[in-house]
Amino acid sequence: MDKNKKEATPTTVKKTEEPLKGPDKKEVKQETKQTPPSTTISKQAGIDVPVEIQKVDPKDRKKVDEYSFISKKIPINIIISEIKGEYVPIYEVYISKISRTTEIILEKIRQELIKQVNLGMVDITDSGKTDIVEERFKETIVFLIEKYFPDIDQTTKEFLVSYLIQKSLGMGKLEILMDDVLLEEIVVNSATEPVWVFHKKHGWLKTNIQVKDEEQVRHYATMIGRKVGRQITNIDPLLDAHLNEGDRVNATLQPISTAGNTITLRKFSRNPMTITHFLKFRTLSPSAASLIWQAMHYELSAIIAGGTASGKTSTLNVLASFFPPNQRIISIEDTREIRLPKYLHWVPMSTRQPNPEGKGEVSMEDLLVNALRQRPDRILVGEVRRQREAETLFEAIHTGHSCYATFHSNNYEETIRRLTNPPINVPLTMLPAISMIIMQFRNRRTGHRRTFQIAEINDDSSGNLLMQYDTKKDILVDKNRSKSLLATLELYTGSTPQEIRNQLREKEKILNYLVKQKIETVDTVGKVMAEYYTNEDELLKTVRANKKFDFDT
Ligand SMILES: Nc1ncnc2c1ncn2[C@@H]1O[C@H](COP(=O)(O)OP(=O)(O)OP(=O)(O)O)[C@@H](O)[C@H]1O
Ligand SMILES: [Mg+2]
Repeated sequence: MDKNKKEATPTTVKKTEEPLKGPDKKEVKQETKQTPPSTTISKQAGIDVPVEIQKVDPKDRKKVDEYSFISKKIPINIIISEIKGEYVPIYEVYISKISRTTEIILEKIRQELIKQVNLGMVDITDSGKTDIVEERFKETIVFLIEKYFPDIDQTTKEFLVSYLIQKSLGMGKLEILMDDVLLEEIVVNSATEPVWVFHKKHGWLKTNIQVKDEEQVRHYATMIGRKVGRQITNIDPLLDAHLNEGDRVNATLQPISTAGNTITLRKFSRNPMTITHFLKFRTLSPSAASLIWQAMHYELSAIIAGGTASGKTSTLNVLASFFPPNQRIISIEDTREIRLPKYLHWVPMSTRQPNPEGKGEVSMEDLLVNALRQRPDRILVGEVRRQREAETLFEAIHTGHSCYATFHSNNYEETIRRLTNPPINVPLTMLPAISMIIMQFRNRRTGHRRTFQIAEINDDSSGNLLMQYDTKKDILVDKNRSKSLLATLELYTGSTPQEIRNQLREKEKILNYLVKQKIETVDTVGKVMAEYYTNEDELLKTVRANKKFDFDT
């Protein structure tokens, strides 16, 4: 297995979860040969124009990946190829079941549909109306499809209906991209260039999809805005919001974004990573994980820091499965990203931005203050950015809550410096309230995400580096002996250093067991953890014998 593969995310691992009955390969190949896919979707159809990168001599293209999935009943085939003269691989979307003739008929249906239903684009952007419009569209579409394709079977009918609805009412092919679980980010920079995507396995790729014109990009942005009850207009040309399932969207309008209207969609992982994935991808070692687990078990607080997209939030989520099931957890975020095992007693909360009149804001600080009144044992904080949040967070730790927050910085020293200096200004004397700093980082050459440093905070508020990632060897290596962390654990638990070492070894065994037994989802990992806290001896017996874990009882 090459290193890139190791970095693969759970969605790759679980790719077969959905019954992926994509188009059969022969069909795709044939279509590729006869009609280049760019022409299978007629340009007059409206929404997106496929870029004609496919007109490439076969010897100038090298296929690097191919897979299928179903997007709203539409079978989709994706082909990723390296093409001579292109600096990044090309991601091509094929709706292979639609032949050229079908496409022409569908376009006819679409035109007739617009006449019959008599609705322009403007109407459908009205919030609340979408469902009604969709229903009316659907009835007419079914009628027209039955008229033009009298012998059609039920599955194909459903697929064509869905395809037409998406094409007429939705965001066209952008919606197909949203359904590819392997994509992390979908970016429209303007209507003059293809849509870009960030792929979990292949990084940035150029697609064969381009939005028709700037007006269409703007229309999509407006549509997304309305869906989440927000506006994007010339007066308010920036939109930052999260969609229902936790996907994040940002849009900007010209002339603020000088080259064109933009849309950036960051997809929320449907199958969040767990400690098992982290160990498998070598994000951190079992010994590092067991040290963090031990500290979290006994309620020590931690800051998880790193650069942009280094994996801070994912780490916070992964580590939260170490919480015992009999404690109350409150999470506070701007965007709903955290997802905890169902065995935990968890109250998720998220902030709200003010409405256009500047009313109704619920800030991170408001939620933190409120959380303290809900008797939490643990508080998770999405990201600490401002002084007020940091102050409240440290107050919360001082009043006996264990807190886990993410923070933006590049190494543990910088974390301490940034926390204790303007503009955040946490008093130096308060800093030892945090027992541990966990630094995440993304290797800029390989793209791998790793735990970069684990440090403790000494009584004098200085940091002590316990483990450091060795970039060349790709391992976390031990640095200094722990002073404060182990001393605090001894103090809080009454355990001797030898007992703590034994517990660390046990935890390490359980972690290795999770990997060996491929226990990978949030809920299955959560169940094993719950077992550890309630039935430790039994669990250790199962682990020692490397027996299958019984999830049914
Ligand atoms: N250990 C890891 N291995 C592989 N992929 C990871 C790992 N950690 C995070 N990722 C992926 O990296 C992307 C960014 O992760 P995440 O959102 O956790 O980063 P972040 O540091 O919180 O980002 P931001 O700065 O935007 O808040 C996600 O798509 C996530 O799936
Ligand atoms: Mg984050």
